Amino acid sequence: MYISQQIAANAVNQVLSGRNLTLALPAALAVFPNATPQQRGAAQDLSYGTLRFYGEIDAYLSQLLEKPLTDDRIHTLLLVAVYQLLHDKADAFTVVNQAVYAVSELKRPAPKSWAKGLVNAILRNFLRQKEALAKTIPASEVATYSYPQWWINKLKAQYPDHWQSMLETGNQHPPMTLRVNTQKISIADYMQLLARQDIEATHVGGQAVTLTRPQPVEKIPGFTDGIVSVQDYGAQLAAYLLDLTPDSKTPNLSVPALKVLDACCAPGGKTGHILEMANVALTSLDSDEARLQRVQSNLDRLALSANLVVGDASSASWWDGQSFDRILADVPCTASGIVRRHVDIKWLRREADIASFAAQQAKILPSLWQMLAKGGKLLYVTCSIFNEENQAQVDKFLQNNADATQLPFELPVNHTEASITQLNGQLIPSNAHDGFYYALLQKN
Ligand SMILES: C[S@@+](CC[C@H](N)C(=O)[O-])C[C@H]1O[C@@H](n2cnc3c(N)ncnc32)[C@H](O)[C@@H]1O
Repeated sequence: MYISQQIAANAVNQVLSGRNLTLALPAALAVFPNATPQQRGAAQDLSYGTLRFYGEIDAYLSQLLEKPLTDDRIHTLLLVAVYQLLHDKADAFTVVNQAVYAVSELKRPAPKSWAKGLVNAILRNFLRQKEALAKTIPASEVATYSYPQWWINKLKAQYPDHWQSMLETGNQHPPMTLRVNTQKISIADYMQLLARQDIEATHVGGQAVTLTRPQPVEKIPGFTDGIVSVQDYGAQLAAYLLDLTPDSKTPNLSVPALKVLDACCAPGGKTGHILEMANVALTSLDSDEARLQRVQSNLDRLALSANLVVGDASSASWWDGQSFDRILADVPCTASGIVRRHVDIKWLRREADIASFAAQQAKILPSLWQMLAKGGKLLYVTCSIFNEENQAQVDKFLQNNADATQLPFELPVNHTEASITQLNGQLIPSNAHDGFYYALLQKN
């Protein structure tokens, strides 16, 4: 266990110093190339768990420390161990003994001789005083919910009726949802395929099937053959809401009816869905060339194709001047609606980041708007729950663009989740889906 604790402590340490967990965890794992798959899996669970509940864990730990620790490796090791003692099923004394051993294994610079004794004393004090320490937690919202205070305040102001459940949902393990390509297999047949492999699942609506227990993709029937993809249910609404029915254009099935731009497309989840749903001429744009390669591998798996372009959606330098009938603008955002998948976001984001993402979005929207044909539709999407990036952004755009109208949504047939219409395009994160925002704009 101590190897997993060390890897997790290293990853958490990097995140608390400002690095993304998706970069920090592989770097921390690389320090232990001989770690077994079990140790690696446990290290991942411990890193995610510690960051998910960092506010709470830190509140316990600070009560036990007389002064801040100068060696942040020991501090994060303690955070990981307290996480285990609070939320993990592991035997408490094993956790403590292994954490003490993990300290003795730290190298360059080797910790001071008192470090092992200190870790041992703090963790044993935690076990002895846990109930008394717990009494102080409700006095702090950061400790209670494990989010920065500015985040909690913002949600309280923007969602007076939902803020608490939104914070709690963001601390749950994310569901693993599949998108079934119903052109290739019916939902009923796919559910049977899963059942035959003893994989429990629920059809949540549309093409979305949620697994009761997440599985490695290699074990998911039909994944490598491109019959199913992994995609959150909320994200699966994009291709429906974009309205890919071919207007008045010639309904000749061999000729793509609509010219569609998927701006900000990588890693290509929505690109694949659009192509599965309709015969369209699709241009998929992203400013990040490396991420665009992931779109290509996704399309290869699905045996689909699009015109992939490296370019900046806030400029027209890459555009050939031919307008698009539909534009999907899945813009860069704070990703505050997907914190349960990216637990580091809560601690890496600063409140000021909201304004800088909003400024980027405010440049992208008008640039894409000029590329939209008259009568065409643009679906603006974020995976954020902050209003500044969502309806407030769209309202500003509508004020400055008299030729734009925001259309009401009709929830597609077979979709059961009602929150999208209730809250004006904002999906409140729930067990079923992440916190996406959608606005459909038409050019008059
Ligand atoms: C939310 S992700 C898109 C997710 C994608 N639509 C999907 O469903 O898989 C945002 C993407 O926008 C890209 N991006 C950020 N700024 C951009 C810009 N100015 N122009 C084009 N792409 C941009 C990022 O590289 C990132 O891949």
